[in-house]
Amino acid sequence: MSRLDLFIDRMVSQRACLDAAIDQTASMTGPVFELGLGNGRTFHHLRERITSRDIFVFERAIASHPDSTPDEHQLILGDVNETLVQSLARFGATASLIHADLGGHNRDKNDVFARKISPLVEPLLAQGGLMVASDRMYFETLKELPLPQGAVEGRCFIYQK
Ligand SMILES: C[S@@+](CC[C@H](N)C(=O)[O-])C[C@H]1O[C@@H](n2cnc3c(N)ncnc32)[C@H](O)[C@@H]1O
Repeated sequence: MSRLDLFIDRMVSQRACLDAAIDQTASMTGPVFELGLGNGRTFHHLRERITSRDIFVFERAIASHPDSTPDEHQLILGDVNETLVQSLARFGATASLIHADLGGHNRDKNDVFARKISPLVEPLLAQGGLMVASDRMYFETLKELPLPQGAVEGRCFIYQK
């Protein structure tokens, strides 16, 4: 498989998982958390499709496309190792959907990072809430769900509280 094939699989899977998770949580009112703004493509996708829930974006350095830059009140700036902990005091267990795309090119590093932030993400989800992640996460109480049609195994993961 070429790197192009892998990239396309990851993008197609990300969209399929996000769309399925948006549909599945549509009746929930709690906020949506986007972890890792990057270029802002997935934030833009969420913003296009979710109109009745607040979206908050966690990022340490804004470098997004101007069309995909969150408003200031939507931004939670800083290292997620700190901002996720602070957010538990602010939001409690209310998030209806959390999307994490925080990784870089090094799969081992991504795995170490996913292990570190899993216990910080887990308490933020409301009962029934979903987490979509580009990397396998390590939760104690969340259940891994089967991927929706169109998503490729191992390229995206969905978990439910
Ligand atoms: C792969 S990009 C996200 C791409 C985005 N989903 C998109 O569609 O454009 C990962 C982002 O996560 C951010 N990030 C990585 N580690 C972080 C950390 N510890 N705290 C906050 N942001 C972090 C990086 O700055 C980067 O912007």
